[in-house]
Amino acid sequence: MNKKLLTWLLTAGIAVIFAATGLQAGTEVSDEITMDYNKYTIRKYTPPKYKVFVFTHKKHNIDYKISCGECHHDKDGNPLEDLKLGDNVQQCVECHTDLKKTKQNRKSILLLENAMHENCKVCHKKTNIEAGDPKGRKGPGPVSCTSCHVKVEGQK
Ligand code: HEC
Ligand code: HEC
Ligand code: HEC
Ligand code: HEC
Repeated sequence: MNKKLLTWLLTAGIAVIFAATGLQAGTEVSDEITMDYNKYTIRKYTPPKYKVFVFTHKKHNIDYKISCGECHHDKDGNPLEDLKLGDNVQQCVECHTDLKKTKQNRKSILLLENAMHENCKVCHKKTNIEAGDPKGRKGPGPVSCTSCHVKVEGQK
C-alpha cells in the first residue's frame, strides 16, 4: 500500500476513535474574551456605567505576536512558554482569587484586577515607549483607565 495513504488511513482511524469515545482534552478559547469575572457593580469602571471589557485574545497572539507565556504562567508564576492552543489552561481567576478590593489586599497581586492591570499595562507601556513616546502613555497600547473602561452612553 502507498505509504501516504496508509498514514492517512491510520490518522483517520484515530480521529474516528476519538470522535466515537468523545475523548476531549484542553480548553477552548474564543478569539475575543468577554472579561466579566467580577460581577459586583458598586465600584467605578464597572457595569452598568461602563462597558464590560472585551479582550482581543487571538489578535494579541497572532497580530501582535505575543507568546502564551507572556500572560499565562504556572502556580509559581513561571511563564508557560510551551503552551499551545488546545492545551489545558487555568483561568487567571483560579489563582488570583480576590475579587473585592479591601484596605488589606489593595496592593496584592492576588486581587484579580491588580493581576490584570499589571499584566496588560506593563507591556502596553513598554510598547508605547518603543513606539516613540518616552512616558509610554500615548501609543498603540492602551494605558489610561478610560481607554479600556469605556463609558456606556447615556449613563452618568
Ligand atoms: C496578551 C496576553 C495573552 C496571550 C499572549 C495569550 N493569552 Fe490566553 N488568555 C489571556 C487572558 C487574559 C485570558 C482570559 C482570562 C482567563 O480566562 O482567565 C486568556 C484565556 C485563555 C484560555 C481560556 C481559558 C478558559 O478556561 O476560559 C485559553 C485556553 C488560553 N487563553 C490559551 C492561550 C494560548 C494557548 C496562548 C498562546 C497560543 C495564549 N492563550 C496567549 C491572556 C493571554
Ligand atoms: C496556577 C495559578 C496562577 C494562574 C492560573 C495565574 N497566575 Fe498570575 N501569578 C500566580 C502566582 C503564584 C504569582 C506570584 C509569583 C511570584 O510571587 O513571583 C503570580 C503573579 C502574577 C503577576 C505578577 C508579575 C509576575 O509575572 O510575576 C501578574 C501580572 C499575573 N500573575 C497575572 C496573571 C494573569 C493575567 C493570569 C491569566 C492570564 C494569571 N496571572 C494566571 C499564579 C497564577
Ligand atoms: C506582552 C505584551 C502585551 C500584553 C501582556 C497585553 N497586551 Fe494589549 N496590546 C499589546 C500591543 C503590542 C498592542 C498594540 C498593537 C498595535 O496596535 O500595534 C496592544 C493593544 C491592545 C488593545 C487595543 C487594540 C485591541 O486589540 O483591542 C487593547 C484594548 C489591549 N491591548 C488590551 C489588553 C488587555 C486587557 C491585556 C491584559 C489582559 C493586554 N492587552 C495584555 C501588547 C500586550
Ligand atoms: C489595558 C486595559 C485596562 C486599563 C488601561 C485599565 N483597566 Fe481596569 N481592568 C481591565 C481588565 C481586563 C479588568 C478585569 C475585568 C474582569 O475580569 O472583570 C479590569 C478590572 C478593573 C476593576 C475591577 C472591576 C471589575 O469589573 O473587574 C476596576 C475597579 C478597574 N479595572 C479600574 C481601573 C482603573 C482605575 C484604571 C486606570 C488607573 C484601569 N482600570 C485601567 C483592563 C484595564
